[in-house]
Amino acid sequence: MTSHTDVTTALSLVPATDQAPAVRWGILGAGWIAGSFAEAVTSATASTVRAVGSRSAAKARAFADAHLGADAAGATAHGSYEDLVTDPDVDVVYVATPHSHHREHALLAIAAGKHVLVEKAFTRNAAEAEEVFAAARDAGVFVMEAMWTRFLPHVAAIHAAIADGEIGEIITLAADHGQFFDVADTHRLVNPDLAGGALLDLGVYPVSFAHDILGVPESITAVGTLTETGVDGQVSMIFDYPGRTQAVLTTTLWAATPTTATITGTAGRIEIDGAFYAPTSMRVVRHDGTVREVARPDVAGLAFEAAEVARRVHAGDTQSDRMSWQSTLDVLGSLDEVRRQVGVVFPGEGAA
Ligand SMILES: NC(=O)c1ccc[n+]([C@@H]2O[C@H](COP(=O)([O-])OP(=O)(O)OC[C@H]3O[C@@H](n4cnc5c(N)ncnc54)[C@H](OP(=O)(O)O)[C@@H]3O)[C@@H](O)[C@H]2O)c1
Repeated sequence: MTSHTDVTTALSLVPATDQAPAVRWGILGAGWIAGSFAEAVTSATASTVRAVGSRSAAKARAFADAHLGADAAGATAHGSYEDLVTDPDVDVVYVATPHSHHREHALLAIAAGKHVLVEKAFTRNAAEAEEVFAAARDAGVFVMEAMWTRFLPHVAAIHAAIADGEIGEIITLAADHGQFFDVADTHRLVNPDLAGGALLDLGVYPVSFAHDILGVPESITAVGTLTETGVDGQVSMIFDYPGRTQAVLTTTLWAATPTTATITGTAGRIEIDGAFYAPTSMRVVRHDGTVREVARPDVAGLAFEAAEVARRVHAGDTQSDRMSWQSTLDVLGSLDEVRRQVGVVFPGEGAA
C-alpha cells in the first residue's frame, strides 16, 4: 500500500533570501543570465545592484533600465570592466562573461579588492581556478562559483533525506542536462575561443550535483561527440565511487532532455523532476511503500546564492562551505578528465 504524507516546499530548510544582510553588487558583463541574476537580487534580497559594467556604456545603461527596477536610477553604467571593478560603490562583482574570460575577469575584480561571484563553469580548467583562489587568498576576499543549485531548498531536502537514511545506501545516481540550441559557429556555446561545449555550459550541473551528493569519483569513463567547431556537442559519463556506487551523467547541446535526476539507494529512491538544477519538485519513494512529495516553491532561484554571498561577506569569510574552493577544484578536476577523454582542448590552454 502506498501512502503520501503532506506536501511541503522545503523552504524551511534554507535561510530566507530576504533575511540575508545587504551588499552592493556590480554586474560584470551585461548578458542573458546577468539579467536574471540582477532581477533576483533586486526582487528577492535586501541587496542592491549599484553598477553594471559592459564593453559598451550604452549596453550597460540599457541593461540597468531593463533589469534593475527601482535600483536603475541609482546604478552607474560603466563602459569598461575596469571602471566597474574600481567603482567604490561596489562590494561584490558578479562575473557573467563566457567561460574563457572568467579567470581574467575574476582576477581583475580581486586585484581591485572586490569580493567575487563567478558564473559556472568557474574557469576553463582546474589550473585557472587555482590561480583565482590563490589571488583571493592573498587579497583576503570572498570568492565563490555561482553554482546556484547547491543553495536551493529541494537540494537541502535531498541532503536531509539521505542523512536521515530514507533511501539507505546510495547505489546509483542519474542526471541529465540537454538543451536544443541552433546557434552560429561563433556563438559562445560552440566557439572554442569562448570555451564552448555542452560540458562546461550544461554538463557542469550533473557533474557538480554528483560531486555534491557523492563526493569525488574514484574513476571516470566518458564518451563524447564533437561539434564541427571542435567542442563537445554531447557527452555521456560514468563516475565510479569506492564501494558499489556509480553515477551516470549525460549532457548535450543537440536535444532538450528531461533534465531530471534520480538517486537510488537500498531502501528507496529520490526522484527530482526537471529541471533538477533549478527550483523544482521531488519525491522520496521508499521500498516500504511510502511516498513523500516535496513541491516546487515559487521563488527566484538565483536569489539563494546571492543571499549566501551576502551572508558570507558580512561574516568576513573568504568562501562558502556549501560551494567551497575545494569543491570547485574537484568539479573542474572531473571536467578536465572528461575533456581529456573526449579530446577537447581550448585554444591556448595547453594540456587540460
Ligand atoms: N546560472 C545559470 O542558470 C546560467 C544560465 C546561463 C548561463 N550561465 C553562465 O553565465 C555565463 C554567461 O552566459 P550567458 O548565457 O549569460 O552569455 P551571454 O548572454 O552571451 O552573455 C555573456 C556576456 O559576456 C560579455 N563578454 C565579454 N567578452 C565577451 C566575448 N568575447 N564574447 C561574448 N561575450 C563577451 C558580454 O557582455 P558585454 O557585451 O556587456 O560586455 C556578454 O553579454 C556563462 O558562464 C554561462 O555558463 C549561467
